[in-house]
Amino acid sequence: MEYQITIEGGATFSVAAEEDTLLRGALRAGVALPHECSVGGCGACRFDVVDGPMESIWPEAPGLSERDRKRGKHLACQSRPLGDCTIRVRCDEAYRPAIRPERWPAELLARRALTHDMSEFTFQVPATAEFRPGQYALLYPPHTPGARAYSMANLPNGDGIWKFVIRRVPGGTGSNALFDQVRIGQRVTLDGPYGHAYLRDGTARDIVCIAGGSGLAPMLSVARGALARANPGRIHFFYGARTQADLGATAALEELAEDERLALSVVLSAPEATPAWRGPTGFVHAELERVLAQSLDRFDFYFAGPPPMIEAVQELLMHKHQVPFGQIHFDRFV
Ligand SMILES: Cc1cc2nc3c(=O)[nH]c(=O)nc-3n(C[C@H](O)[C@H](O)[C@H](O)COP(=O)(O)OP(=O)(O)OC[C@H]3O[C@@H](n4cnc5c(N)ncnc54)[C@H](O)[C@@H]3O)c2cc1C
Ligand code: FES
Repeated sequence: MEYQITIEGGATFSVAAEEDTLLRGALRAGVALPHECSVGGCGACRFDVVDGPMESIWPEAPGLSERDRKRGKHLACQSRPLGDCTIRVRCDEAYRPAIRPERWPAELLARRALTHDMSEFTFQVPATAEFRPGQYALLYPPHTPGARAYSMANLPNGDGIWKFVIRRVPGGTGSNALFDQVRIGQRVTLDGPYGHAYLRDGTARDIVCIAGGSGLAPMLSVARGALARANPGRIHFFYGARTQADLGATAALEELAEDERLALSVVLSAPEATPAWRGPTGFVHAELERVLAQSLDRFDFYFAGPPPMIEAVQELLMHKHQVPFGQIHFDRFV
C-alpha cells in the first residue's frame, strides 16, 4: 500500500505504508526535502501538515523548539504518514539525494579499538556499498529507540563494506549498545546513504578537511576520495583532539599523510592533561587560521564534529573570512 504526499504548490510523491519516516520516503522518491541529521536533533526538516493523518514517532525530539510545537510544526525525520497527506515545506535542490537510501541487514565483521573510547566498526551488507565520501548511514542498535547516524570512514566499494569510527558516549543508549550488545557475526539494520557534506566533483581549489573527535570518520573518507583522484590538488587536514590519549585514532591519518599531497596538522585542546605533547595546542579552527594564514576563499572546506567546533569553524569561514557558502560542506554530530 502507498500513500500520496502532496507538497502544497509543488510535487506529489508516493510513500510506502511500511516506510518509517516521511523524510526517508521523500528521499527514496528523489524529493529534495530539506534535512541534515535525520535523527530529530537539528530541526532542518521542519514542515507543516496542511491536511491528512501524520504520526509523530518522537514527539519530544529536540529539533523542535517550544515555539515550533506551539506553531504546530513537525519534523520529517520523526513523522510517519498514516494516509494521503498535503504538507507545506520549501524544497531546495541542494537536498536532492545524490544516491537514494536503501535499507540492508548489515553483519558486523570486525570491531577494532582505536582509542579508549573510539573503535572502528566494519559491517558488510549483501549489496554494493554505494555512497559518496563524507556521507553517513543510519544504524539501528539493539534495544534503542530510533536510529543513530554514523559517517562512513571508507570509500564506496563493490564488497558491501561500510566502515565507521564510533565513539562510546558516556550514558549513550545507542553507542553503548553497538559496543556491548552487537557480537561479531550479528546483524543490525543499516539504512543509507544520507547527508550532503560529501566530496564534490573536483574544483580548481585545494581542499581543507577539519575533524573534531569522531568527526574523523567522514573526513578520512573525503580525504581518501580526493587522493584517489588523478589531480586532487593539495589537501590540508586538521584534526582536533582533547588529549594525547585520543591520538590512537590518528594512525590512519598518518598513513594518508605519507602521500605528499596531504598535509596533516594535529592539535590538542586540553594539553595540560598531557605535558609531554610538543605539538600545537588550542582549538582546531584557530590552528587552521594560523597555518593557512592567507585568503581562505581559495579552498573548499569539509568539516565534521561536535556542534561547538562546527559553530566556531562556521563563524571563522562565513563571517570572518567571507568564504562563499558553496565552498563549505559540514556535518554537525547532534
Ligand atoms: C550526521 C551525523 C553523523 C554522525 N557521525 C558520527 C560518527 O561518525 N561517529 C560517532 O561516534 N558519532 C557520530 N554521530 C553521533 C551519533 O549519531 C550519536 O548521536 C552518538 O553516538 C550518541 O548516541 P547514543 O545513542 O550513544 O546517545 P543518546 O544520548 O542515547 O542518543 C543521542 C542520539 O539519539 C537520538 N535519539 C535519542 N532518543 C531518541 C528517540 N527516542 N528516537 C529517535 N532518536 C533518538 C538523538 O537525536 C541523538 O542523535 C553523528 C551524528 C550525526 C547527526
Ligand atoms: S533532519 Fe530532522 S531534525 Fe535533523
